[in-house]
Amino acid sequence: MIKNYSKAPLPFQGQKRRFVQIFKKYLEQFSEEKIFVDLFGGSGLLSHTAKQVHPNSKVIWNDFDNYSKRLANIQRTNKILHELRKVLKDYPKDKRIIGETREKVIEILSHVNKGFVDWITLSSSLMFSMNYGKTLEDFQKSTLYNCIRQSDYNAAGYLIGVEVVRKDYKEIYNIYKDYPNVVFIVDPPYLSTDSSSYNSDGYWKLKDYLEVLNVITNQNYFYFTSDKSQIVELCGWISSVSSVANPFVNAKRINVSTAVNYSSKYTDIMYYYKKD
Ligand SMILES: C[S@@+](CC[C@H](N)C(=O)[O-])C[C@H]1O[C@@H](n2cnc3c(N)ncnc32)[C@H](O)[C@@H]1O
Repeated sequence: MIKNYSKAPLPFQGQKRRFVQIFKKYLEQFSEEKIFVDLFGGSGLLSHTAKQVHPNSKVIWNDFDNYSKRLANIQRTNKILHELRKVLKDYPKDKRIIGETREKVIEILSHVNKGFVDWITLSSSLMFSMNYGKTLEDFQKSTLYNCIRQSDYNAAGYLIGVEVVRKDYKEIYNIYKDYPNVVFIVDPPYLSTDSSSYNSDGYWKLKDYLEVLNVITNQNYFYFTSDKSQIVELCGWISSVSSVANPFVNAKRINVSTAVNYSSKYTDIMYYYKKD
């Protein structure tokens, strides 16, 4: 039986786990004949979900970050975690790793550094959330904590039947833009949030976010953003002072509120639009 994942099998910053249920509900409004194109695929969670809801539809995942490579190396990562667990067996959970134990941890990391290492997954085992190391040197320089989880990672069946591509989103959009039955899933890196764990070299600027809006013009789409990136506000303002139409004007908006801590929260937003 194919497993239904409600979160990505390996850690991924910005994955849309809080939208999975609501996204499913709106996906059901499209028929099987549609092609779903996940332009900013990230962890593949939205592609996975689209394939669950529409197993007979074509679903295309743009694996821009090469998350596939991390999935393909899951057993290797589990082995490294197994070694680390032995060293951290009696070490208090969430405590800073110091002294001889730290030396042993670095020794394991140095040893495995000869082949592929999923540094992002290791970061969530050895660093506090939102902190990422991408190289051995990053780990050697950082304060490490014992956040190691006790169970192995498993991604069995996660992206079965999903087509994988790896290109700039504009290239993929250009291939599919004239298909009458296409639905674009658009989840770009957020404006003013940390995207240091992504592969994209360049820093995303306002112009880049505005350009993404071209892909939702006259298309079926799901578009994800947040009130932290004031794109929606900007579009509303532009349309109020000019003849430029607001791209979200006929779309349905769904908000999901997230508390960072007791005094601060933000809202994640999904826009959904289905052409008649
Ligand atoms: C917010 S994340 C997507 C998260 C994804 N929906 C999920 O649930 O895991 C944005 C993704 O866009 C990728 N990205 C950045 N520049 C891109 C580009 N030019 N074309 C396609 N993807 C790009 C980032 O590397 C990152 O994986």
